[in-house]
Amino acid sequence: MPDKILVTGATGQIGAELTLALRERYGADRVVAVGHRRELSGELAQTGPCCRVDVRDAAALDATVSGQRITVIYHLAALLSAVAEARPMLAWDINMNGLLNVLESARKHGCQVFFPSSVAAFGPGTPVFDTPQDTVQHPATIYGITKVAGELLCDYYHRRYGVDARGVRYPGLISNRVPPGGGTTDYAVDIFYAAIEQRHYDCFLRADTQLDMMYMPDAIAAAIRLMETDAGRLTHRSGFNVTAMNFTPAQLAAAIRQHLPDFTIDYAIDPLRQAIADSWPRHMDDSAARAEWGWQPRFDLPSMTADMLAHLAARLRRA
Ligand code: NAD
Ligand code: SER
Repeated sequence: MPDKILVTGATGQIGAELTLALRERYGADRVVAVGHRRELSGELAQTGPCCRVDVRDAAALDATVSGQRITVIYHLAALLSAVAEARPMLAWDINMNGLLNVLESARKHGCQVFFPSSVAAFGPGTPVFDTPQDTVQHPATIYGITKVAGELLCDYYHRRYGVDARGVRYPGLISNRVPPGGGTTDYAVDIFYAAIEQRHYDCFLRADTQLDMMYMPDAIAAAIRLMETDAGRLTHRSGFNVTAMNFTPAQLAAAIRQHLPDFTIDYAIDPLRQAIADSWPRHMDDSAARAEWGWQPRFDLPSMTADMLAHLAARLRRA
């Protein structure tokens, strides 16, 4: 069992749920949630320790890691694809210098590190169907470039300094708790809010844009399972392909219509996000993750859609 865990990006789409899951599993006082701009509030602040650190501030990050005697870091702080494309210099600063600072603190204090890469680490030249674990990685976006560089940096810190850095290439993640933070796959969350509240959604991707996706409970389970796996079982370390389902906006709309028959969808294409989506795989091969650490998703398109609609509708009614 890890002694003490730090979660950067704890207020984000993944971080908010992962922090609570880690507290549930290992004990609330062992999991420190790191916020960025504001003091943390709500459930994150009420259920365990919190602090505020900009991950670009190496000294502040290192003081937190050593002061709190951290042994495991889940490093989630980053800018996502669409936001990064709008602010490439800032994206490079946060995504690369933040990770470098985390890896340096991990090297000094002997921490294990989780770094989430992305389907965005692929690009033109990558096989789009059954994208292999080890293949061409020439992404066309600044976000994807930071993800490939991040995977390589993690592997370097492992090889050179023995830092136990691990990670997955997440597809688009769908959650009913925290709205997404500016990615290309955000439509697959936005559509549920629109379906419940307006029975209509204007989608910013084309009807036939097939992408890999995953429901948040599976994403959380993947991170924890990989981090708990005996290191001797791992051939790869960072950048495991993982996926749970793949669909197009038209197929997701049809799945929602099974529950809300009057739901309608139109398409108002955003050229920036469409170009990003068009540069990503249609379906990743995640057999390495299945073989090396037993990756197995629970949710497919029908079960995710049913669960998402039920939980989000209840949440929106309470709000
Ligand atoms: P998010 O945008 O919801 O959250 C990002 C978090 O980073 C926020 O809490 C924000 O406050 C924090 N942050 C930003 N700049 C910071 C800084 N300078 N210092 C400290 N914190 C800072 O993102 P998410 O969806 O939770 O993604 C988390 C990680 O998972 C990212 O690395 C992302 O690239 C990766 N990922 C996410 C998805 C997805 O679909 N959500 C898919 C693949 C990979
Ligand atoms: N869901 C993320 C994005 O769209 C993929 O990393 O940016």
